[in-house]
Amino acid sequence: MKKTTLFKWMTLAAAGAMTAGCASYPDEATTRQMAEKMVYDAFAFSPAHKGRLDQDRSQQICSKIGDAKLTQAEAAEIVKLARASIEYPASGKLYGDWKVGDRLAHDGAGDRIRNGKLENRKENGGLCQNCHALAPGEINVGNVGPSLTGYGKQRGNSEAVIKYTYEKIYNAWTYFPCSNMPRLGATKHLTPEQITHMVAYLLDPQSPINK
Ligand code: HEC
Repeated sequence: MKKTTLFKWMTLAAAGAMTAGCASYPDEATTRQMAEKMVYDAFAFSPAHKGRLDQDRSQQICSKIGDAKLTQAEAAEIVKLARASIEYPASGKLYGDWKVGDRLAHDGAGDRIRNGKLENRKENGGLCQNCHALAPGEINVGNVGPSLTGYGKQRGNSEAVIKYTYEKIYNAWTYFPCSNMPRLGATKHLTPEQITHMVAYLLDPQSPINK
């Protein structure tokens, strides 16, 4: 489960338990502290989880209690942080090889923790199919995100579209603060080069996604 989502549930559970027990419950800061402790304690067995439990500034902002909405200033701060996080490939080319992108988009592994240890893998996958429909006719797809079938056919591959797509994959929160799309480049799950291949996979007329 995503950390922020998990955090929300833990927070709700903590708040729920408090309300059931007595008429008043702790303020937001205390509730947050309690929930964080519960999460940390639950993962104490796994050294590999340690760094992942520390929220960065954007995650802290996104981890609102209950249905509280982002303020405009908060959204602007997240977009600013996201923009600042983006690195471009040394070559300056944002459009790679769609065949490599095809393979990576269907590879949902990498950065996995097993028995408290980080899996040792040469290259992380893109995880895309876990949340998106990709090429037409694929059965094993996720629906957390919108379908990307025909993505390039609908948008063409102008410089602006290439840049948007690269930045969207690098750090989705540049365009949609706190969305459920992981910040794949910013968290170093994917390298800038890998992202260029994913861009080509989404946009190239030869790519199966646009057939
Ligand atoms: C955990 C789920 C998840 C994963 C994994 C994921 N995405 Fe997304 N993606 C989303 C969600 C949710 C949205 C819609 C919200 C947003 O725009 O951030 C989205 C939006 C997008 C968009 C914008 C679509 C548009 O119409 O502009 C693109 C492009 C995209 N994802 C590409 C990718 C690629 C490529 C990968 C793999 C490298 C990937 N996503 C992995 C959940 C995910």
